[in-house]
Amino acid sequence: GADIEADISKILPGQLIRVIWRSKPVWIARRTPELLASLANFDDQLKDPNSDEEQQPAFAKNQYRSLKEEYLVLVGICTHLGCSPQHLKDGAFEEYVEGAPEGFFCPCHGSKFDMAGRVFQNVPAGLNLVVPPYMYIDDNTILIG
Ligand code: FES
Repeated sequence: GADIEADISKILPGQLIRVIWRSKPVWIARRTPELLASLANFDDQLKDPNSDEEQQPAFAKNQYRSLKEEYLVLVGICTHLGCSPQHLKDGAFEEYVEGAPEGFFCPCHGSKFDMAGRVFQNVPAGLNLVVPPYMYIDDNTILIG
């Protein structure tokens, strides 16, 4: 089938894994408590902090854009023209957003997204990254699709 199961049991805090769903890259990132606490600090630099405009399942319409706060699940395709952004952390993202510990940077035209996939202002992408439909089969397994 087109739907896939992803084992999340080995993702360490701060790590991101990539899977392929319907020929698209999907990212699963495990966010640390510190990172989750920092997300709101950048709301005033985002185009759509509350994800009013975005394609996402109803369950992801919350401040973390996810079913469980800790795990972010996103389609890893830039909403500008379809490149796949890079996951940057350990100081690398601060080059693009001052004070931001971690995020996504699209090398094609410089769009920037936070660790909830929300797009920053003053970049070409207009929409937040897409949250795919998914559910937890058990604590260690996510079904995407
Ligand atoms: Fe990502 Fe243009 S495709 S910024």
